Amino acid sequence: MLRDRFSAPLDPRAAALSVSVAEDRALLGADLWGSVVHAQMLGATGIVPRRSASRIVVGLRAIARDAAAGKFPLDPALEDVHLNVEAELTRRIGPDGERLHTARSRNDQVATDLAISLRESLLGLERSAATVAGTLVGAARSPDGRHVVDGWTHTQPAQRVYWGQILGSHALRFVRDAERFRRVRERIEASPLGSGAIAGTSLPVDRTATARALGFRRPSVSSIDAVSDRDAASDALYASAVALLHASGFAEELVLGSLPGVDRVRLGDPFVTTSSLMPHKRNPDLAELVRAESAPAIGRLVSHLALLKGLPMGYHRDLQVGKPLVLEGLSRARLSLDVLGAMARGSSFLSPPATDAATGSVEVADALVRAGVPFRSAHRRVGLWLARRATEKSRNAPIGTAELRAEFPELPDDFRFPGAWEEPERRGSAGGSSWRSVDRLLAEVDARRRSGERAAATELVRLQKLRRTAGVPERLFRPAEDP
Ligand code: ARG
Repeated sequence: MLRDRFSAPLDPRAAALSVSVAEDRALLGADLWGSVVHAQMLGATGIVPRRSASRIVVGLRAIARDAAAGKFPLDPALEDVHLNVEAELTRRIGPDGERLHTARSRNDQVATDLAISLRESLLGLERSAATVAGTLVGAARSPDGRHVVDGWTHTQPAQRVYWGQILGSHALRFVRDAERFRRVRERIEASPLGSGAIAGTSLPVDRTATARALGFRRPSVSSIDAVSDRDAASDALYASAVALLHASGFAEELVLGSLPGVDRVRLGDPFVTTSSLMPHKRNPDLAELVRAESAPAIGRLVSHLALLKGLPMGYHRDLQVGKPLVLEGLSRARLSLDVLGAMARGSSFLSPPATDAATGSVEVADALVRAGVPFRSAHRRVGLWLARRATEKSRNAPIGTAELRAEFPELPDDFRFPGAWEEPERRGSAGGSSWRSVDRLLAEVDARRRSGERAAATELVRLQKLRRTAGVPERLFRPAEDP
């Protein structure tokens, strides 16, 4: 393709390195949409005869319909999605097809396709992260949320809390993720289309019209920045890596929680596997896989940043290598969040028997503080008492009021060592473990999740309307597994 001036075809190994049709499939919808809008603009401005522009648009829409039906395979011999679409158009409508590439370059095309595709993927991620948050809030508000479990520090029993606080705190992370994805999406507001190779064009293009038709706020302000800018892609990879770190933390909660002996999580059957050898196994493979996805997510972010380092201003082919990192990264993040959300929905959060670790010890120290004892001294005395107790045969005996009063005469008459179930309510500080605070947490998470979901839904409707106007099927913008 486009090699008339050269004496030889591209070396076959070079061609193999050069081809990008596999990852470009995900850009097909964006590429066709951009091309329809570009052709309409070429006709409206008279850069291309109106009749030719109309034929181009009709031809592109027909290709889009076939593509949506899975009947437009991309030919690797044509290198990328852009050349595939152009070649197919010309094959279908003849010489008018040769006018489509007027006043544009693959450099502004790929930047435009990426912006459109990122915007779409981010919208999906916003919804998926919000769904995980909503699921966790739902579990926290169910009877499971009222179960009391060991809150851990150093993966050791620390203080007893409601499951609802743990679940709500994971939910809060996912709400922040949804908000982070949204902020990245909302910054994608400038259309690169019409920037040409790097320097714009001498033809009288209407960049505002194409920007609006593609759902951007305005055309980009520098053609040379527009073809090289991959900030939104880096931001999206960062946001995905953070979301998958959060996912890995919750996945680990499920793995450890379902460990016999810990017994605080029961995973649903659709998310466990057995061993090919040991018939008794009930393995949390899916939680492990979600936990693992954070590793390639971090890797893609680092690779993408490394790829951009030191590139001079302008388009450079290096940028092509960033495409699969971004496209695959965002779709793996989406899939992982969706699996995690479904897995959370299918899990039960149980109340294991209380550990014998005296997690109420802080309450004794705090009661001594209330009686005027400096905290350091209280901490030392309670620690020594527990250490002594642990070596005596009374260690498994419940900690009674008489024992406490003998040990700590300063304690008021009505002080009782908190039973495991009472512990969370003892801590009434704002944002603490009492149900009052947990309830506030859940309300906040839910409100932020809902407002994010509403914003994403509104944006989706806006984009769908523009695509309907352009005559490009919505199917091309949805991943196969999307409802
Ligand atoms: N396939 C290329 C990419 O993904 C499109 C732009 C190619 N531009 C060029 N001058 N070869 O980046």
